[in-house]
Amino acid sequence: MIKAKGVCLKYPDGTPALNNINLSVEPGELVYVTGPSGSGKTSLLKLFMGVEYPTEGSLEILGQQIAKVHEKEIRQLRMKLGPVFQEFRLIKGRTVMENVMLGMRFLNASPSRLKEDAGVALTKVGLAHKALSLVENLSWGECQRVAIARAVARKPELILADEPTGNLDKDNALNILELLTSFKDNKTAVVITTHATHLIEGQKDCTLIRVDGGSISRERTGGA
Ligand SMILES: Nc1ncnc2c1ncn2[C@@H]1O[C@H](COP(=O)(O)OP(=O)(O)OP(=O)(O)O)[C@@H](O)[C@H]1O
Ligand SMILES: [Mg+2]
Repeated sequence: MIKAKGVCLKYPDGTPALNNINLSVEPGELVYVTGPSGSGKTSLLKLFMGVEYPTEGSLEILGQQIAKVHEKEIRQLRMKLGPVFQEFRLIKGRTVMENVMLGMRFLNASPSRLKEDAGVALTKVGLAHKALSLVENLSWGECQRVAIARAVARKPELILADEPTGNLDKDNALNILELLTSFKDNKTAVVITTHATHLIEGQKDCTLIRVDGGSISRERTGGA
């Protein structure tokens, strides 16, 4: 579902963020992306989200080439992705349920079906009881869970979470990782960036990608 060949990303101001990335991610794979601050983790995820385009090389996400000439198709592609942004990007003045349903507005399904699926996602993240609360009245950890519910409610084929454990204590961070990885199945891959290498030590059956200075190394851990 992700195929990168010789991908480079240079920002318009000339900053070389990623250099010669070669990588493939298959359905059902769990990938952790680690590396120091400024190493290129978010940049890599932005490429996978079709938010940035490679300045060199070729990148294919769910069969779609990521390049400016395909802007229209990339908008369609985004509906098959489940992005969880570091800063959540929830819409204030709207309820938890409305925020989750806003993430589903492009789906071709009846309003009652959408509401049901949104409810299922909120139950999975343990927030069904907050469905009618305004998002500005939630705790930080609850906002995180709404962001995850919004990303998974549309049953994406690729879940992309940027630093979902930032600012959480160890137990809550592990809970969030467990929650995110629970959405992995034989059709769905999950990619998670994190600073917190201690949280993923000893995790089985996953791929570890280390980004350093814009280059990556990849390691596959043994099956569970
Ligand atoms: N829009 C941008 N324009 C120019 N340079 C950028 C832009 N976004 C990021 N960079 C630079 O690209 C490099 C990689 O940044 P990136 O945000 O991908 O790092 P990161 O690994 O996610 O860091 P952190 O762990 O702090 O989130 C950094 O040198 C950063 O300053
Ligand atoms: Mg980052």
